[in-house]
Amino acid sequence: MEYNVLLYERELIMGGQLEETINNTAGFHVVRRFQTATDAIGQGGMFQPNLILFDTTGKNAIGLLEKFHEAFPRLPILCTGDQWRADTASRFLQAGGSGYIVKPFTTEELREAVENFAKNGSGRDSSVYTFFSPKGKSGKTTLIANLALALARRTREQVGIIDADLQFGDMAVFFNLQPATTIVEAVRDSEFLQPVSLSSYFMPVTENVRVLCGTRTPNLIDRVAIDGFERILAMSRELFRYVLIDVPQAFNPTSIAAAEASDATFLCAMKNDGYEVYHMMRALEIFKDWPDYQERVKPIFTRVTPCNAASREKLSDDLGFPVAAVIPNAYDIVSTAADNGRMAVDIEPSSALTQAVNKLADQLTRGSHVAMEARA
Ligand SMILES: Nc1ncnc2c1ncn2[C@@H]1O[C@H](COP(=O)(O)OP(=O)(O)OP(=O)(O)O)[C@@H](O)[C@H]1O
Ligand SMILES: [Mg+2]
Repeated sequence: MEYNVLLYERELIMGGQLEETINNTAGFHVVRRFQTATDAIGQGGMFQPNLILFDTTGKNAIGLLEKFHEAFPRLPILCTGDQWRADTASRFLQAGGSGYIVKPFTTEELREAVENFAKNGSGRDSSVYTFFSPKGKSGKTTLIANLALALARRTREQVGIIDADLQFGDMAVFFNLQPATTIVEAVRDSEFLQPVSLSSYFMPVTENVRVLCGTRTPNLIDRVAIDGFERILAMSRELFRYVLIDVPQAFNPTSIAAAEASDATFLCAMKNDGYEVYHMMRALEIFKDWPDYQERVKPIFTRVTPCNAASREKLSDDLGFPVAAVIPNAYDIVSTAADNGRMAVDIEPSSALTQAVNKLADQLTRGSHVAMEARA
């Protein structure tokens, strides 16, 4: 695709520099550069751009962006600024932006930023889900890995997994990855990152699924870097349609920050010694502080036998709260998959486990439509 770029840049020197970079990027061409928003809105249409670069550094940038969006409702608008900021990023997206890039940018960064929203849509519609377990060994890493594949397959959209276990992440082992970079480096570098540069910290698993791995080397980053972690989560919304976060067990600053930043939090417990309903109740108690916890907290039980609607209802009754999903006992296929570095949903597409995971994937894709309509 050829991009005819309308460049709105207030600074003369920066404008010249950006224009040169854009024209040096294969497939990109500046059709017109404007220094004022009024001129760009008034005259821009004549040059038939199909991509707008919008300078966010001026006063009332959100209001101006809304005006651009009104004037060019069908064109993608890539915001440019001095620094990516978590607190304004979502406001720019809500106001009509399709992505954000720090300037001056390279030809590579420009191409990646545009490819990113062309592939993925703008971060406006992304859904972020945290998977938390009141006790360890709940089956949540297994569930997330399989759910990510199921979501990508059903929607053909980009799915990101974030292993937020800053001490004992196991997602890399699941996918047989030797990550060059992990969440520790991403959080460490977060202040200098923007969505396009964060992208390379994720390791590809399939065409549509990528993982930001946790680390197996214990370190103290958990104590200091919550704001960096929050920045990574906010940037990930621009990179993926779905983001699934595996958080360390128990409540700590990381799991709380992930849950706060998520559209929903799944509480996972494995049927085991009979205490799991009790553990789940205790976990629910903690989330009751959220005014909207009824919608944002979703219990899941794994290794449920028999895995059917009756078991789910019984668990909901025992818990006094609706259970979102039940996942069957699938020890054999889960361990065969693990031994082969593959996922259960790939190995046995018709198994009860795959069906349960697909059902949950359907719930999430439907759920996000509802959420989007509510937001619109
Ligand atoms: N649906 C299932 N049925 C039976 N066994 C399962 C199921 N899901 C996972 N397991 C097994 O339970 C164990 C724990 O699974 P998993 O690592 O996914 O849980 P976790 O909650 O991420 O654990 P951790 O607390 O170590 O992070 C693994 O041995 C896995 O093979
Ligand atoms: Mg795990």
